[in-house]
Amino acid sequence: MSITLVPADIEDYAQLHSDPEPELLRELREETQRVSTEARMLVGRLEGAFLKMLVHLTNAQRVLEIGTFTGYSALWMAEALPPDGTLVTCDIDEKTTAVAHRYFGRSPYGRKIEVRLGRALETLSVLPGPFDLVFIDADKENYTAYYEAVLPKLRTGGLIVADNTLWSGRVLTPQSASDHGLVTFNAHVAKDARVERVLLTVRDGLVIARKR
Ligand SMILES: C[S@@+](CC[C@H](N)C(=O)[O-])C[C@H]1O[C@@H](n2cnc3c(N)ncnc32)[C@H](O)[C@@H]1O
Repeated sequence: MSITLVPADIEDYAQLHSDPEPELLRELREETQRVSTEARMLVGRLEGAFLKMLVHLTNAQRVLEIGTFTGYSALWMAEALPPDGTLVTCDIDEKTTAVAHRYFGRSPYGRKIEVRLGRALETLSVLPGPFDLVFIDADKENYTAYYEAVLPKLRTGGLIVADNTLWSGRVLTPQSASDHGLVTFNAHVAKDARVERVLLTVRDGLVIARKR
């Protein structure tokens, strides 16, 4: 199951008319769906193709991902990097990161990916920039802290892309800590003069902020 704000048949139609999911990524998605109760956390095929497009459009050389999970979104983005490009991805979960490592080892793009295991805020504090694109897709309570930690490391014109920012509509009536984390994040980015931004209704909501 994936989280989409548009009807499933429209999402399917959009997927059918976008870049196809590579065979290895289909395998990874299906394994994740078999072994994890959290498979809905994967960005899915349409957003994966969109992330790949963003990496191409920004001519990114260095990408940072916060929230590896089983490596699905990282592999979509790594394909669009040049041969000497790098994607650094971080996560706290050893078990899902082990799955990611296994698929990175099988992919022709896996050698572009560096995995950092540990709490993201600690990883970010020692990670040198600059990055061309940062994808935020981890614990929702920390989105604003991640944004503030990475903005100084983003090149001018670079993008911060944040997933799940409509949170199945729960941002309209926030209750949990995650709901409030996203409401705070969206409001923070909306009034930040350092960026131009758009909140897209793609999948579960996607904020794109471009550093001025
Ligand atoms: C939504 S999943 C990432 C999905 C992945 N981007 C994809 O689409 O394939 C969120 C991930 O964030 C990780 N995470 C949660 N809190 C974290 C933290 N404090 N530091 C680093 N990773 C964290 C979780 O372990 C989980 O794997």
